[in-house]
Amino acid sequence: MVKVSGKKSEDEKKLIQKAKEARAKAYAPYSKFKVGAAVLTQKGKIYTGANVECASYGLTACAERVALYNAVVSGEREFKKIAVVTDTKDPSTPCGLCRQVLSEFGEELEVICANLQGKIRKFKLKELLPYGFEKE
Ligand code: THU
Repeated sequence: MVKVSGKKSEDEKKLIQKAKEARAKAYAPYSKFKVGAAVLTQKGKIYTGANVECASYGLTACAERVALYNAVVSGEREFKKIAVVTDTKDPSTPCGLCRQVLSEFGEELEVICANLQGKIRKFKLKELLPYGFEKE
C-alpha cells in the first residue's frame, strides 16, 4: 500500500533541498520537465543528479539514475534514501526503469518524492517495485 506522509525529518529536509538545487541544473530543453534527485548514503554523504535529455529522446538520462551513478562511481554502494523533486501538483515517483536500477542496491531504500510546494510522498523501494528482476 502506498504510504503518503507530510512529515519530514531533518535529514529528509536537507536531502530534498539538495535535490531541489540539483533540479535547477537539469538539461531538459525538449520536455521542459526538470527533475532533481539526491541520494543519501548509509554513511551520511549526499550525491545529486538531474535529468539530462538528448535530441535522440530515448537516450535521456533520468535524475534518479544520474544521482545514483554519481554516487556509485564515487565508490558508494550502500544507500539509505533518495529524494526526487518535480514541479507537479502531486510529487512524481521514479519511472520503472529507475526503480529497477535503484533496486540493484537494495529494496529497503526509502524513496522521498517531493514537489516545489513541499508536499511529499514516501515509499520503500519494494513498494514501488514489487517482484523486480533478480538474477538469483
Ligand atoms: N524523468 C526523470 O528524470 N525521472 C523519472 O523518474 C521520470 C522522468 C525525466 C526524463 C525526461 O527528461 C523528463 O523527465 C520527462 O519525461
